[in-house]
Amino acid sequence: MSRPILLLTGRNGQLGTVFSKQWETSLLSGRYELVQVGRDDLDIADSYEVKKYLSDLSPTCILNAAAYTRVDEAEFNRESAYSVNERAVGLLAGWCDDNSCRLVHISTDFVFNGEATLPYSVDSKTDPISVYGASKRAGERLVASRLPSSGIIVRTSWLYSEHGQNFVKTMLRLMSEGRDVRVVSDQVGSPTSAHTLSNFIARLIAKDGAAGVYHFTDGGELSWYKFAVAIREIGIELDLISEQSTITPVTTADYSTAARRPAYSVLELSPSECPDLGDTPGWWAELRSVLECIKAGSSGR
Ligand SMILES: NC(=O)c1ccc[n+]([C@@H]2O[C@H](COP(=O)([O-])OP(=O)(O)OC[C@H]3O[C@@H](n4cnc5c(N)ncnc54)[C@H](OP(=O)(O)O)[C@@H]3O)[C@@H](O)[C@H]2O)c1
Repeated sequence: MSRPILLLTGRNGQLGTVFSKQWETSLLSGRYELVQVGRDDLDIADSYEVKKYLSDLSPTCILNAAAYTRVDEAEFNRESAYSVNERAVGLLAGWCDDNSCRLVHISTDFVFNGEATLPYSVDSKTDPISVYGASKRAGERLVASRLPSSGIIVRTSWLYSEHGQNFVKTMLRLMSEGRDVRVVSDQVGSPTSAHTLSNFIARLIAKDGAAGVYHFTDGGELSWYKFAVAIREIGIELDLISEQSTITPVTTADYSTAARRPAYSVLELSPSECPDLGDTPGWWAELRSVLECIKAGSSGR
């Protein structure tokens, strides 16, 4: 008998790439057949195509790793951000509701305003301060309203991996060029490797009855500046960058961007509610592991 289908959207993104590369060793691979689509295969904002594709494929579970993630550009491309982060998510959630399909949707710390001083719990009030954050919250709301007892929303923060574009790779590139890097020291959060996130998601999918909002990061409470210093330290140790590069802390006021970002966006981890779900080696160990991967020239681990 053929296995039920797990559909992964956003296969070419950071999370999508890691999730599909880990598939062979994933605890899900014996249970599901993975079908992965990138934007070229399926534009999730195209409602006609999405309905037709889903009806033909008939998945049992959808992991939506596709998103409009260009935070600054979203300020000027509101419509594009909402079409992918809200309306497309509503479409997926609606189809899942009508067809008894599970939906795992990925969201962000940017749904919060950053005024807190303690980690945000899954029940904390959302209050996004950017178009990107607002569009992601709108998507969350559609999942919660269409799939109140079966939809899964996983909020994460500061996602990075050896794939795609992210802070870690940008820092490595700049520092390997011996540049003086200016990094904000008054925005505090928690980094997350796409590898640990991917494992967490697999365990959630494997768990019967998992539903609602989950928070997952690699822990820690640090500024982007401190994160850059860690990248530099491990990068030098692994011979990825030279000691010539320097990092200068700057304030958000000194470093203007189109979108506002939360000053504090540490997420309280869900493992307190689900102790079997969230073991993670910690942000430093995960950072080292991804940098080792980059050093090995590996396209995945
Ligand atoms: N990156 C972070 O720091 C961060 C932090 C917190 C939460 N998150 C969330 O985590 C999830 C995964 O993020 P990520 O870093 O892996 O994102 P990513 O690397 O930007 O990947 C997103 C993928 O979605 C695809 N996509 C965009 N519009 C699409 C459409 N209309 N139809 C189909 N595919 C489309 C993109 O394709 P193209 O490449 O063709 O555009 C891209 O491959 C997202 O939900 C994001 O909001 C990310």
